[in-house]
Amino acid sequence: MQRTEGVNAIEVEGLTKRFGALAAVDNVSLTISNGEIFGLLGPNGAGKTTLISMLVTMKRPTAGHAKVNGYDVQKQADKVRESIGIVFQDSSLDEELTAYENLELHGAMYNMDRKEAEARIKEVIKMVELEDRLHHIVKTFSGGMRRRLEIARGLLHCPDVLFLDEPTIGLDPQTRQHIWSYIKKMQKERGITIVITTHYMDEADLLCDRVAIIDHGKIIALDKSSALKDSLGGDILSIETPCSDKLKEAFGKLAWVGEAKCHDGSLTLRVTKGEQRIPVLMEIARKKGIAVESVSLHKPTLDDVFLHYTGKTIREEEVSPNESLRARVASRRRSG
Ligand SMILES: Nc1ncnc2c1ncn2[C@@H]1O[C@H](COP(=O)(O)OP(=O)(O)OP(=O)(O)O)[C@@H](O)[C@H]1O
Ligand SMILES: [Mg+2]
Repeated sequence: MQRTEGVNAIEVEGLTKRFGALAAVDNVSLTISNGEIFGLLGPNGAGKTTLISMLVTMKRPTAGHAKVNGYDVQKQADKVRESIGIVFQDSSLDEELTAYENLELHGAMYNMDRKEAEARIKEVIKMVELEDRLHHIVKTFSGGMRRRLEIARGLLHCPDVLFLDEPTIGLDPQTRQHIWSYIKKMQKERGITIVITTHYMDEADLLCDRVAIIDHGKIIALDKSSALKDSLGGDILSIETPCSDKLKEAFGKLAWVGEAKCHDGSLTLRVTKGEQRIPVLMEIARKKGIAVESVSLHKPTLDDVFLHYTGKTIREEEVSPNESLRARVASRRRSG
């Protein structure tokens, strides 16, 4: 696929998707450069899949505009589709077919020449280390193997932009690391642009050049992961206590406490020189007769960035897996 030179891989302006009263994606604007690995990080229901669905032309925006590889997602949907690869959140492989047949089918759908498709199948299957499984039926594959095959399939027609919706969800740490290394390799060797959604902070942190943190359909922060974390400044102190509100009142008054937030039975403080502050804080708690169960100190993480902007951690925002599943089943039913 010939990349349209000089344009950003993705340009989004005021993109909105409403489902009745719910703004699943709410006035999102962003630009992604060619060759970037860009992460959309957010809890269940944040709007990540809906945003991607509009970019890959599967859902029509309610308002706003988006261009992918210079093509308008509404006016030039065919051109957009030709120039992208997609790995969906829910597996879309044919279980009864072999890995080879799944890839062959994909090549045919993209009107690839038979010989060219054959050569590419060899190439992509090698990249995801599934050569010895090429002629096995997908039904016999593990979750990690299926994911790797789906990535291979997304790459078969040499897309300029690859969309990966939760590529490592539910996989073991080793398989996740493998998938990250393929993604890095695709970026390095092919200069491909990769848009990845995740609710794993480590994935966003280690893999992505830039991260947009998304919550309730809105981008609440967007930058390099390191810049997002540095922007908070200082250290994070997490204090487990049954009386977080009382402690917050006492500690929040101290000049060197930048921010104090109660959530999920603990108190989080942003402070300078964290190690030196712990004894002072414990002394104040002791004098007030407030029990402290544990204290931990760490440098800011992306979850602290999320907490800073939303007052909750990503984990707390997550609905239960069952609820998430139910919402997805309902959404599928609605979209037929
Ligand atoms: N077809 C639909 N009809 C109505 N509501 C929908 C539909 N699709 C999604 N939603 C709602 O839009 C919101 C965003 O959903 P979306 O699937 O984009 O979230 P997500 O960030 O991808 O979540 P997850 O991490 O669980 O995949 C949710 O509240 C969801 O229930
Ligand atoms: Mg999703």
